[in-house]
Amino acid sequence: MCGIVGYIGKGNAKQAILKGLASLEYRGYDSAGIALMDGKNIFVEKKQGKLENLEKALECLDLNSSLGIGHTRWATHGAPSDKNSHPHLSMDKTFAVVHNGIIENYISLRKILEEKGYIFKSETDTEVVAHLLQENYIENDPKKTLLNVLNKLEGSYALGIVSSHFPEKLICARKNSPLVIGKGINENLIASDVPAILNYTRNVYYLDNDEIGILSKNNIEFYNKNGIEISKESHLIQWSLEQASKNGFDHFMLKEIYEQPNALKATYSRIVKDNKIDFDSIFTRKDIEKYNKIYIVACGTAYHAGLIGKVYFNNISKIEVLSEIASEFRYTNPFVDENTLVIFVSQSGETLDTLEALKEAKNKGATTLAITNVVGSTISREAHKVIYTMAGPEIAVASTKAYTTQVLILYLLSLYIGVNKKNIDIKQYEEFLKEFESIPTKIEEELKNSNIIKKISERLKDKYNGFFIGRGLDYQIALEGCLKMKEITYIHTEAFPSGELKHGSIALIEEGTPVIVLATQKNLIEKTISNIKELKARGAYVITLGNDNNFLKEVSDEFIEIKNTTNYLSVYTAIVPLQLLAYYTSVAKNIDVDKPRNLAKSVTVE
Ligand code: AGP
Ligand code: GLU
Repeated sequence: MCGIVGYIGKGNAKQAILKGLASLEYRGYDSAGIALMDGKNIFVEKKQGKLENLEKALECLDLNSSLGIGHTRWATHGAPSDKNSHPHLSMDKTFAVVHNGIIENYISLRKILEEKGYIFKSETDTEVVAHLLQENYIENDPKKTLLNVLNKLEGSYALGIVSSHFPEKLICARKNSPLVIGKGINENLIASDVPAILNYTRNVYYLDNDEIGILSKNNIEFYNKNGIEISKESHLIQWSLEQASKNGFDHFMLKEIYEQPNALKATYSRIVKDNKIDFDSIFTRKDIEKYNKIYIVACGTAYHAGLIGKVYFNNISKIEVLSEIASEFRYTNPFVDENTLVIFVSQSGETLDTLEALKEAKNKGATTLAITNVVGSTISREAHKVIYTMAGPEIAVASTKAYTTQVLILYLLSLYIGVNKKNIDIKQYEEFLKEFESIPTKIEEELKNSNIIKKISERLKDKYNGFFIGRGLDYQIALEGCLKMKEITYIHTEAFPSGELKHGSIALIEEGTPVIVLATQKNLIEKTISNIKELKARGAYVITLGNDNNFLKEVSDEFIEIKNTTNYLSVYTAIVPLQLLAYYTSVAKNIDVDKPRNLAKSVTVE
């Protein structure tokens, strides 16, 4: 998920790698490390924390190496620590590996290797790759050695490898994690992202899934998964360093909105194996039987994800669920005891309000579960149990991909608890899972179609206030759309249940007041149409999000057509256009989208 840099050539590998890692710092990371080829041996240094810790440790190193690999880690398996940092060495120290991504079958591979006598030094999934390289080493053949290992791996990887068996080769491979190769003069590089190589070259190759690259000082060879040499087209990078760090997107928020299909796929495939949700290492059968009530506690966007979760748990698991804002949890005298599961949702895992609520729940004897995006974060360590979203680092202050992956975990958890409590049958469970599988593609299709949203944002940019309304699950989605709009456009918006507006706040509707109507819940469309009519009669400018429906189109001023899915999963197809609407309105207003005023990414005060 984080950064890889590798260098081979005429220059100083240590310098090239440290420079490259520094240009990837914006991605967020928890540790850094380097492996340098030192004649017949591989020198490794790795440190938890900032890159400067690694730089300090290397200050006195007198090694003029021309081949090496470096890594900034964003932990997924095993907390951030020196020993879990990359590179990882094979037991005989002949191979060093850096890895981005997740080796999904690492537990079974680790078992096999341990039975063969391999001793593991870390808790990471990555270390299996280093030992597998040793185990499958074929003399004088880096390609076959690597392909033998890749055949055994499931999951996602960008790999950078150096080996004392091949002291003049830099080896790499990728599957579902990005990797670029930079072609210089008498020097070549690999990196997870373009900024890391821009100081050396603008000539790059993009490695595709299941391809491998073998680099030497003056040559680059590419092979497919059958070991057949292939030729690849090089690309000239025109982006500035700043643009490159955003992968060509104008802002991190937009990049992160576009990353959602992959973030969802990564989160799903980590949990669902052979059409079965696997939380078996987190909950025992007894646990599930014991829970008679669930609390979901969080702040801001994570709280909104929790509200969606509440609907899932109530309807799918058929279990009593309460949702609380973390900063209020202590003051509500929560009915929490040893039979309660309290779920804390937090992207950063560091939000103090959430952490304090977690302590309170623990004091009351509840079982606590963290759903967080940051491995080793305080909340993940404090809670009894933890499930990680696989969203990758989220840089923009406005949360997007963290929200959608949080909602996914809550969906899967509600199905898991529902089926284990026998409140839904296997057939329904399988149908619910199957329905989700098309969601990433639906989001991808919606992302291709943002012109109407850009057009509407031009009209919204001069408004001072507005409303979001929705009925049923649409109300919970409206709340999140509304928060996005507020935090990055500074337009005062409020979200209401559609039926509630007429009980007072409709007094604020004037000619041209924008009202964004969520109309995704198929059984509630008729009532929503009546609410739209009430608004139109008072002059509102109505922007409706719904599936293809002529009545809705006719009564609305603007219609954003979203992809069709079930009522439960429409949160995905609706929230993405709402994120884009807030984003483009913010851009139209010339606001610093990624760092809106008065806000911090991680709120560590009460
Ligand atoms: C989201 O767009 C916000 N910036 C904010 O509401 C955020 O979700 C909240 O502060 C909670 O953060 P956490 O998920 O890191 O705990
Ligand atoms: N899964 C690996 C780990 O936890 C790689 C993480 C990364 O991409 O930085 O060490």
